[in-house]
Amino acid sequence: MRVVLLGAPGAGKGTHCKRIVGKYGLLHLSSGDILRQERAAGTELGNQAQSYMDSGALVPDDLIVKMMAGAIAKSPESGFVLDGFPRTVNQAAELDESLASTDQKIDAVLNLDIDDAVVATRITGRRSCPECGAVYHIVNLKPKVEGICDNDGVELIQRPDDSLDVVKNRLKTYHQQTKAVVDYYKDNPDSPGVCGIDANKDADAVSVLVFEQLDTLVKTQSNI
Ligand code: AP5
Ligand code: MG
Repeated sequence: MRVVLLGAPGAGKGTHCKRIVGKYGLLHLSSGDILRQERAAGTELGNQAQSYMDSGALVPDDLIVKMMAGAIAKSPESGFVLDGFPRTVNQAAELDESLASTDQKIDAVLNLDIDDAVVATRITGRRSCPECGAVYHIVNLKPKVEGICDNDGVELIQRPDDSLDVVKNRLKTYHQQTKAVVDYYKDNPDSPGVCGIDANKDADAVSVLVFEQLDTLVKTQSNI
């Protein structure tokens, strides 16, 4: 199963991809996480991406497409769920082309719809584990002990691009460049269509909606 999860910054892409992985055994491929790993490792790609990420702009398509094609090529038979990619119409078209060259295609596109007004509180309250990548929120999804990861006891951190100023730019970038990806999938006759999910609801309610869609897909695929 090959799934794309779309949504604005803070919509819950990372949170729900982790839950999807737990239930369906797919590989979680987050372009943002891969870029942060490249930065932490001090690679050339990481250095090239740094200024774009810190300002809330998109990293150039050619760098991203190459990076994600490499990651997708290593994905298991069970499939993958994409988080944060594709983020431009060009990236979406390149992804389709690259999958088609090996007789593959995207099976489901889920769009996490969130109001702009909710985004700032989601992002400024986010805390992440630098060790295992678990994501928490200081109000909505608290760890058992404040500031400490439930999984490994490591101190939680805030992402450097989670300041209010950068969040405003990330949201602007989303509206100017990424929202069009939803229409790309809606308008493309070869795409499975887009399933809209109300991501303003609490995380467990959003999970129910996400799982409903994916359970239907699993049933359909097992009947083929
Ligand atoms: P990326 O890391 O992808 O960031 P983003 O898209 O801005 O999304 P976030 O990770 O901030 O949010 P999310 O939707 O994953 O939400 P989360 O689940 O954490 O990209 C970072 C940068 O890398 C970009 O700005 C760009 O520069 C670059 N980049 C990445 N991909 C690129 C690409 N393809 N092309 C070009 N450049 C690229 O949830 C947020 C918070 O809310 C958490 O605290 C969580 O606990 C909480 N929460 C989640 N769901 C709920 C809920 N339903 N109710 C209450 N709280 C909730
Ligand atoms: Mg994320």
